[in-house]
Order: sequence, then C-alpha cells, then structure tokens
Amino acid sequence: MWPAGAGRRAVRRSAPALTGAGDLRKHLTMARLRKAARVWRSRDARAAAEQVMVATDAAAFILDLAALFDRSAPLEVELGAGRGDFIIERAAANPERNFLAVELAGSVARVLAARAGRRELSNLRVLQADARTIVNLLMPDAAVAVYHIYFPDPWPKARHEKHRMMSPSMAAGIARTLIPGGTIHVASDVEEWAAAMFAMLCEAGFVRIGGEAAGARFTGFARKYIAAGKPIFAASFRRF
Ligand SMILES: C[S@@+](CC[C@H](N)C(=O)[O-])C[C@H]1O[C@@H](n2cnc3c(N)ncnc32)[C@H](O)[C@@H]1O
Repeated sequence: MWPAGAGRRAVRRSAPALTGAGDLRKHLTMARLRKAARVWRSRDARAAAEQVMVATDAAAFILDLAALFDRSAPLEVELGAGRGDFIIERAAANPERNFLAVELAGSVARVLAARAGRRELSNLRVLQADARTIVNLLMPDAAVAVYHIYFPDPWPKARHEKHRMMSPSMAAGIARTLIPGGTIHVASDVEEWAAAMFAMLCEAGFVRIGGEAAGARFTGFARKYIAAGKPIFAASFRRF
C-alpha cells in the first residue's frame, strides 16, 4: 500500500494543478482524445473498425421522400419551423407541392404537428430533428426546390456559435440538396447575423435575387417582431 499522500504527490509532479471540477473534466477529456488518436493510428485498429463502420453517405441514411409523401412533387423545406405559422399556410395554399417542416425542440415540434394535423394537409410532414443532420446527412442530392430559414437562432453571441444552424458546411449542404435553380429564403432579426448568413450562402455559390423572402413577414416570430416595430433582415438566394 502507498504511504498516505504519495498518490497526491505523484499527481502534483506529473500533471498541472487542477483547480476545479471544470479543469478536471477538461483534463480527462484531453486524455481520452489522446488515447483515441493513438488507437486510430494503429493499422489493426483501423482494419477492425472498417469492418463495422457504416459510411454516413450509405443509402440506409438517405430520406426516401417519395415514400414519406406517398407521391413525387416539388419539395419545400422549412428549417426551424417553430409552431408552423408560415409553413402550414404555405402548404394549404400550394397543394401540388410537398412540404417538410423540421423543428429541433420536441415540445415545439409536437405543437406544430398537432396544428398541422388538424388542418388535414396531406402534403405536409413534420420532422423533429436537427436541421443540420437532415441537410448534411439525410437529404438526397438535388431534392429540394425551396428552403426556408426564418429567425433560426437565438444564439447571436460569438461564444454560442457552435449552436447556430447556419455555417459554411450547412450552406454547402443546402447547395448540394437544392435542385439546379432552387431557392433559399432566409431572415433574421439580428443584422450582423443576417449578413453573416448571406455571406456564407454567397461563398457556397448562391446569388442574391430580388423580391421579398417568402416567409419573412408571415412566420410567428416575424409577426411578433413587426408588431414590436423591430426591423427584419431578409433575402432570397438562388443557385444556378
Ligand atoms: C426563433 S424560433 C423561429 C421559429 C419560426 N421560424 C418563426 O419564424 O416563427 C427558432 C426555431 O428554430 C429552432 N431551431 C434552432 N436550431 C435548430 C436546428 N439546428 N434544427 C432545427 N430547428 C432548430 C428552434 O427550436 C426554434 O423553434
């Protein structure tokens, strides 16, 4: 058995002082990451992993849209649809098109689904999921005619950046999944963040087009902001 205190002394000599629970967690996380990197450098480990690792572009992960809607029709997708004020009316007004409402928050998605279900719209489906997973992983290439993203982020601060829906890789995913000539409408109440989203879309090959973004004044949040006299920063983009 170690003499009392020997363990503590050994830790003090070999590792930087850990001053709190946060430090300790970070230290353990770094140690685990280093260990994982070591495992991955071994050829045997990689060969073993390849036998069981499923490729993320495998057909098993791709949405079967014709089966989802029971028909093929031009598809419009709203990402972060909230309670569905916009997409429910849009689907009711355009029965010849399919609509997919994606909402991350379970309680909000359930309200959205109940409201949509009551309208008995056969062309609208509600998906409780992270929009980033849907766009970057599950949506087939060239499948979407129109994307709508309105006031997606309650995350204006830089340190919350990782939570934001739009990013350069998301813009690239949107480009991949839109049909040629497809459109994306975006809006935000935060001017700086709207400008950042617009820039990411341009960087991904989109061109800004004229006209008002379809839902910029008709979503639940848009109506709230307009009633409060707040400005809205919206634009539409197309990829040719
Ligand atoms: C400020 S609300 C706006 C809702 C609606 N677009 C509107 O204008 O009324 C933002 C919504 O986006 C959802 N959201 C945020 N990040 C998301 C993500 N990664 N995937 C899906 N939904 C997301 C939130 O749960 C929330 O309901």
